[in-house]
Amino acid sequence: MNRRYFIRESCSICLGAMVAGWLAESLSACATSKVLQAKMQGRAVELAESILEDERFHVVEAPGVRYRIAVRRLTNGQYVALLLMCTHARNPVTLTGNSFYCPLHGSRFDSQGNVIQGPAQQPLIHLPAQPDRQGILHIGLQDWMLES
Ligand code: FES
Repeated sequence: MNRRYFIRESCSICLGAMVAGWLAESLSACATSKVLQAKMQGRAVELAESILEDERFHVVEAPGVRYRIAVRRLTNGQYVALLLMCTHARNPVTLTGNSFYCPLHGSRFDSQGNVIQGPAQQPLIHLPAQPDRQGILHIGLQDWMLES
């Protein structure tokens, strides 16, 4: 094997690995791209618990709310609700598998909303999420999260 052949083959393998990584991340994002529609009741987002049966994140949007919300049911029956707003410069973040990515400057957040890559310094905002006896999950918002 000569040097030129070795370099060409090595570059081909690296390029293939990069494309495979990009494809895996893109497909992961596609797999979670379905957005659930929720209702508003006052300053709370409401949706049926029955559509959140499994333990993966679901992306929810509601009329009049500036950002989407990622909601996940935990094994103990509690819920995690994260506002999908980057804490760096308020750009929307996207769900990629079980973590979150901001395409504006590249911040990444783990499944708890903690920063794993900056420039963001603060975690994603956790929203209070409480189910009622009728099986409706209520997610509390603050005024600034609503469109005026
Ligand atoms: S706005 Fe998200 S990284 Fe800058």
